[in-house]
Amino acid sequence: MPTLSSHAQFITCCDRDYDRAKELQEFDETKAGVKGLVDSGVTKVPRIFIHPPENLRGLSSNSNGTGLQVPIIDLRGCRDFRRRDVIDGIREASETWGFFQMINHGVPLDVMDSMLEGVKKFHEQQVEAKKELYSRDGTKRVRYYCNGDLFLSKAATWRDSVIFDFQDGVLDPEAVPPICRDAVFEYEKHIAELKTSLAELLSEALGLSSDYLSGAECMKSETVLGHYYPACPEPELTLGTVSHSDLSFLTLLLQDHHGGLQVLHESHWFDVVPVKGALLANIGDFIQLVTNGKFKSVEHRVLSGQVGPRISVACSRPKQDRNRPLGPIKELLSENNPPIYKETSLSEYVACARSHGLATSTLPHFRISDPKWRRAVENS
Ligand code: OGA
Ligand code: NI
Repeated sequence: MPTLSSHAQFITCCDRDYDRAKELQEFDETKAGVKGLVDSGVTKVPRIFIHPPENLRGLSSNSNGTGLQVPIIDLRGCRDFRRRDVIDGIREASETWGFFQMINHGVPLDVMDSMLEGVKKFHEQQVEAKKELYSRDGTKRVRYYCNGDLFLSKAATWRDSVIFDFQDGVLDPEAVPPICRDAVFEYEKHIAELKTSLAELLSEALGLSSDYLSGAECMKSETVLGHYYPACPEPELTLGTVSHSDLSFLTLLLQDHHGGLQVLHESHWFDVVPVKGALLANIGDFIQLVTNGKFKSVEHRVLSGQVGPRISVACSRPKQDRNRPLGPIKELLSENNPPIYKETSLSEYVACARSHGLATSTLPHFRISDPKWRRAVENS
């Protein structure tokens, strides 16, 4: 539970004499991120990072005592003798948790370890070396930044990120800093292969032909996002990542051993306990949309920790320039299962999400039951 003092501190942060915009600007101009703050020796979380109590609810408690946890799915034999079992496991997990941990997924352990190490090394370079890549320009294929929604959100989070955008699988190696170049390319190659298998398994889990999702190009376009969560002097006042659902079809997530990731399940927060060698699959908003709500894109968040840095790598955000209409898959609809979402496109969806920031869920805006759309449908 948030302490009284965190509440009091948040109230202080809302004082009129607090020029938040100016403090954000000054922080952004350092181009040194949260890592820079920590290196400068801060012992208190600056007020731009202090969250309102409602964001911090349940920080110190989790519901893992119930014995429930994010399902672990063993992909061994998923091409042959265990295919049915694996598909059943994926369907169940996608309908309930929206998350599953995968083991025996085929991405070698040393490739994952090098990727985590590469992200760590990138962020731990001298500021001078990474500063030129600091940017909020989403058209840049390689860039580093602190909080994509820094100027939109009510409170910043304790995290820096570096992004590598493999549009249609292609990225100029020269654009990637040598400090992590080999690790990034090797990792992306393996993730793209795993995504191809998962596209088949998810299609079959929906009762569709195995090439359905890959044929619809749902799984294409890869971004590799390397997060760095520095140790935090007052973790009870801020978060690593605010509660959100992903603007993707499917996100594959690699986390180190620190923990801190939590998933909201049946209105309770559950820790996603790190499993060495595992990769996490996270159903994104677009799968929820195209499956007409059958597979769930769930809220998750990352706590900040006294011990760190924590490193994680998230793969797959949709490209922004896609104008193709996307809506519930016709084959899944019936009289008893009418469409609950209206058609949209990646670009329209991402623009909508950007306009309100990470912390507010976007999918409800596209529900047909939303009064705005219902009026549009009734008038059409
Ligand atoms: C994300 C995300 C979790 C993590 O990048 O969307 O939820 O563990 N990351 O960093
Ligand atoms: Ni996420």
